[in-house]
Amino acid sequence: MARSVNVAVLGIGNIGGEVARRIASGASATPSSGLELKLVAAMDRGPEQAAAAGIDPALVNPDGVGIVDRDDVDIVIETLGGAQPAADLMIRALAQGKHVVTANKEALAKNLPAILAAARDGDAAIMYEASIGGGIPLVVSLRQILTNNRVDSVRGILNGTTNYILHRMEDEGCDYATALQGAQELGYAEPDPTADVEGLDAANKIAILGTMMAGEYFHPERVDVTGISGVGLEDFADARERGGTLRLIAAAERRDDGSIALSVAPTFVPNTDLFSRVVRNFNAVEIVGDRVGPVWLHGQGAGPDPTASAILSDVAEAAIAGSGASPTMNL
Ligand code: HSE
Repeated sequence: MARSVNVAVLGIGNIGGEVARRIASGASATPSSGLELKLVAAMDRGPEQAAAAGIDPALVNPDGVGIVDRDDVDIVIETLGGAQPAADLMIRALAQGKHVVTANKEALAKNLPAILAAARDGDAAIMYEASIGGGIPLVVSLRQILTNNRVDSVRGILNGTTNYILHRMEDEGCDYATALQGAQELGYAEPDPTADVEGLDAANKIAILGTMMAGEYFHPERVDVTGISGVGLEDFADARERGGTLRLIAAAERRDDGSIALSVAPTFVPNTDLFSRVVRNFNAVEIVGDRVGPVWLHGQGAGPDPTASAILSDVAEAAIAGSGASPTMNL
């Protein structure tokens, strides 16, 4: 018989709404996990958001603390976006021993030490696969490689919105503003797309991956960031002449002295490089371990469907493995 797990979703916008809808309609059913998820509450402004997500309005209210404190909530899914109140609500849930699954790279990257400490104190899992690389199983892969490798670099395309924009500029000669509008309409962009186009979203993601890689906390302010707002069609013409194209590459790389360099920047990639073939909202990452060598991952990095998929996988893992499901950070 399936085990019942009660879930609350904080924020039922673009991503959280998709997750809530899947759970409420039974479409989250994962026969292989043997779990039956039940949506018991959702935090958002009210009936309008409930209607947009297609869930019972009686489940929705704006009191995040009240929802997190409910005795009948087993797992909290945090899809609010923004650093606060998301981080404080996650810390509150974890300290009470409730597992937390988040897609919120900003809240996580800026508050990792406090969030990890709360997870340890509460013996709860903090799961964040959906916060980096959308539907790509990136965190779980890096975690697995780190168990017996020194990882020397993690490099990749970590923002779907900017990749979509750059690809349309390259492929169709589409202007920047039109391409950005397309990314917003498809649900790839952050509520304030400045975070995407100025490279801040990718900086949050590479700060988390760099922290995992080094076992040392890197605040996103440690990342050297250049966004794509200054990239024009003439830059693509130059790149084409040189036999390549442009992609926004985020990197965490070990220097010779052992320290870690963190960066996000529009980068020339030759046509022979796999990154040059990454199109639309897709992300791709290369992890280099000292024993395994280079490992490549590729998949949809933004959008409600792939991100909800990663969230629901994390929910299943936390429900089954408990606090042991948390990716180790060794901070
Ligand atoms: N705005 C983000 C992106 C969403 O475009 O990659 C997924 O993290």
